[in-house]
Amino acid sequence: MKKVFLSVMSLFAVALLSAKDIYVNSPGTTLLLKAEAGLPLHVSYYGERVADAEQVYRAYSLWEDAYPAFGLGNYDITALSVRHSDGNMSTELTYLSDVVTTEGNSTVYTITMKDKVYEFLVDVCYRTYDNSDVIETWSVIRNNEKKPVSLLKYASGFLPIRQGNVWVQHEHGSWGAEAQVSEEALKPGIFEIHDLTGTKNAYMNRPNLMISLDGKPQENYGRVVGAALCWSGNFRMTIDTQGKKIHRFVAGIDDTNSQYTLKKGETFTTPVLALTYSNEGLGGASRSFHRWARKNNMVHNGTALRKTLLNSWEGVYLNVSQDGMEKMMDGVKQLGGELFVMDDGWFGNKYKRSVDDCALGDWVTDTGKLPKGVPALEKACTERGLKWGIWIEPEMTNTKSELYEKHPDWVVCHPTREPSTGRGGTQLVLDMSNPAVQDFVYKVVDDIMTETPNTYYIKWDCNMETKNFGSHYLSADNQSHLYVDYHLGLIRTLKRIRAKYPDLVIQCCASGGGRVNYGLMPYFDEFWVSDNTDAKQRLFIQWGTSMFFPACAMAQHVSASPNHQTRRSLPLKFRFDVAMTGRLGMEMKPSDLSADEMKFAQSCFKTYKETIRPIVQQGDQYRLISPYEGNGYCSEMFVGEDKKEAIFFAYKFEHYVDFFRPRFYFAGLDPNATYTLTELCRQGNADHWEGSSFTGRFLMQQGVEIDFRGEYASKVIRLTRGS
Ligand code: DGJ
Repeated sequence: MKKVFLSVMSLFAVALLSAKDIYVNSPGTTLLLKAEAGLPLHVSYYGERVADAEQVYRAYSLWEDAYPAFGLGNYDITALSVRHSDGNMSTELTYLSDVVTTEGNSTVYTITMKDKVYEFLVDVCYRTYDNSDVIETWSVIRNNEKKPVSLLKYASGFLPIRQGNVWVQHEHGSWGAEAQVSEEALKPGIFEIHDLTGTKNAYMNRPNLMISLDGKPQENYGRVVGAALCWSGNFRMTIDTQGKKIHRFVAGIDDTNSQYTLKKGETFTTPVLALTYSNEGLGGASRSFHRWARKNNMVHNGTALRKTLLNSWEGVYLNVSQDGMEKMMDGVKQLGGELFVMDDGWFGNKYKRSVDDCALGDWVTDTGKLPKGVPALEKACTERGLKWGIWIEPEMTNTKSELYEKHPDWVVCHPTREPSTGRGGTQLVLDMSNPAVQDFVYKVVDDIMTETPNTYYIKWDCNMETKNFGSHYLSADNQSHLYVDYHLGLIRTLKRIRAKYPDLVIQCCASGGGRVNYGLMPYFDEFWVSDNTDAKQRLFIQWGTSMFFPACAMAQHVSASPNHQTRRSLPLKFRFDVAMTGRLGMEMKPSDLSADEMKFAQSCFKTYKETIRPIVQQGDQYRLISPYEGNGYCSEMFVGEDKKEAIFFAYKFEHYVDFFRPRFYFAGLDPNATYTLTELCRQGNADHWEGSSFTGRFLMQQGVEIDFRGEYASKVIRLTRGS
């Protein structure tokens, strides 16, 4: 939904009516299209970069619509389905023109198709970048008919995939167990993932798919197509397998109860579907997405190092107080952290947020808990040389709130219905399709920034699904716009906030990882990966999240032991080593650490900031041993872009006598360079390889054995390239 026809800097080619090949090229890949007057746009190839279309045509017979529409010829799954202004439900799109433009470091291909009979146009658009192998696709649907048309289905993109031994991998989950990796072979019939929660589209199924063309997906080899839908609302990703030739992949906004009406002259721009192709397995596809996000698609690009922080939630939950917050600030200062964030519990006037059943929407300080107000806390942070951050959940309210008493019609609910409530038996979702609500949400942030202008970080939470379909604001005819207009309203509001506060760091949280999607990445700096901070389970959740999202966007906090979600006790070193593969933070009272633990934690913060952070947050990630393999180990590494430095992580989370001891094969190194290994955050004696040098080739091909001692053992190793 973005960057459509912004600043067009140059024009390469315009409208050719004869047949032509359109090469949508990223540095290493090509999506080959065929455009011919009187015919729909066709897609004939997606894979490694090619320069010779004729060779492709001689080799393959892939000849599918690039954006199939329902009604004439297409009885298979389609990307578009329309009821035209006269009631006709068939659409026949044919190529009209194309234009290629450059916008900054990207190239945009816009291919316009028009219905043969109706004044109904579709621009099928693609964007490539000069620095990553992701191709974005979306469409712009235009109604120039005399009366309204209804969009019954309006996918973002379509891709035919040749049948063979094709597998699909995706991440599914639930609260506290997000991003669980699941994979299966495609069989005749439908493979589909979707989300219908309305607000938190990444809990159950993330809007992403990896499609492996060479059998069961492998980490480091095999051809893989990755797809991520850049949308935060309901979605559907379908692979339809009929016959023996191709799988048809369609992805976009879920059409359930979401028919969208376009009045004469109106346009609908679908969200972007981001595609990548790699012949380096899942890892190659992930690295493409990470690079694309870091360099082109995140609110602050990947050069900004993310600050270490302490978040108050698991330390005090709703029991915030002036003294308690200041003690935590002292704690994070002592640890060497850089930012303190006050979580839920700080607000409420008539209703006090001491229980989670009230006060959302009443964003005024609870002066009973914080008599000196939030500005005093911001000041206390600044005086300690720390940055200040605060929690809000601005899209929500409670029936027990002054906001709801004043504006009962602002919640998502049909006027005829009694609303069903969420958390605390009272929570409700505000109707972001309503411009008055959008203004309110904008003002929540604006007021905070006015009262405490040094606020560096906001944790933006979202803890409820849209349980009550219906809107007081939308007209009777447009009720079916709710799921879409909610998110358009949210994006509009976020854009406004970003325009005024470009430097603000904002975390995207939705009861943990409920909103980990690329639709929100242009506005948010990071995701709270999960409310589950148990380091063992986090290995699985973080592994799944890393399939599509870069480490700099993954907020990972060390919490207390025993852990509050699983009651599992884990060594502090293991907890740190797991958290340090993303943006490191803490989620406990530092005063609960013993003197020895504090000393160790301080050394971890120091090492993370000085040595680990730049490589983890800006380097390329190589996943080595998957925790899902089930042999009790997990390992991954990050390599700086210039391959001078790398940081390796390994974890052992099962323990038996004579336990299997794998070799760890490194990846991503310069094979001809020599690397010296140094253990970081070490506890105990040095390993046999400490301080030794190896060639990159040896480390990658022969591997290294690691002497893990005891249960929940872990290692962090720095690799430094010799001159
Ligand atoms: C859910 C979030 O995921 C938690 O981290 C915390 O912020 C709570 N909400 C606060 O209510």
